Amino acid sequence: MAPPMTASNKHPEAPWRNFYGRIHGKTLNQAQKDYLDEDLEALSPGAVSWDINPNRDPIDMDARFKGKPVWLEIGFGGGEHLVHMGETYPEIEIIGCEPFMNGVAMLLGKIRKLQTQNVAVHPGDARDLFDVLPDHSISKAFLNYPDPWPKKRHHRRRFVTAEHLEPLFRVLKPGAEFRVATDIPDYVRQTLIEVPKAGFVWQAEGPKDWSQPWSDWYSTRYEQKALREGRTPHYLTFLRP
Ligand SMILES: C[S@@+](CC[C@H](N)C(=O)[O-])C[C@H]1O[C@@H](n2cnc3c(N)ncnc32)[C@H](O)[C@@H]1O
Repeated sequence: MAPPMTASNKHPEAPWRNFYGRIHGKTLNQAQKDYLDEDLEALSPGAVSWDINPNRDPIDMDARFKGKPVWLEIGFGGGEHLVHMGETYPEIEIIGCEPFMNGVAMLLGKIRKLQTQNVAVHPGDARDLFDVLPDHSISKAFLNYPDPWPKKRHHRRRFVTAEHLEPLFRVLKPGAEFRVATDIPDYVRQTLIEVPKAGFVWQAEGPKDWSQPWSDWYSTRYEQKALREGRTPHYLTFLRP
């Protein structure tokens, strides 16, 4: 059985957290239902669900991740970048979080096919994961094409707000990299204001540093759509001092 969804978590101790994205999309096919039923539980990064960890005790990272460096991808969509990173860097462990269950099922299909060994999956909101990650436990973080929320009155729903960036800063190790990819100019603007406000330092020295992808980048489904529709990717690299 899949663990309970954090975005709809009704545990009495759970704080009210608005989540505006989608949790379910098209009906899953039988294979996808099987992936969720059979594979998801074993891939859990630890006790994230409020139902099993209402005191929000921190995850024992060394026990769960064998003392290896742990990376984090927030909102992995279909999981192509997440699996690519896991396969490229077998010496690390990487946690992906994504509340959209169709995306989680797609990722599980990829993990099963490739037999990827170093990916953990939190099928829910990053904020619930931040609660139980110890301080300085994550060595690198990725935010690829976060939901753009184009209307001005919705900008406060964006990931690049204090509500998400402050706990992210806390869980990252000093010296950790935080990568943000987006195709929305106004999202770039907000990112370059809010991320440094949370304590991060932008690493760009010139336009090449934000117009060219990282050497180990894997273009995501969302990026492919943005390129087809004529939008320009921006690749922003921050350091957590
Ligand atoms: C525009 S999609 C991009 C997906 C993927 N990164 C890509 O590039 O194709 C943004 C994703 O972020 C997820 N998301 C939104 N808020 C989130 C949160 N609080 N925690 C984790 N994921 C979140 C959404 O469910 C959605 O799948």
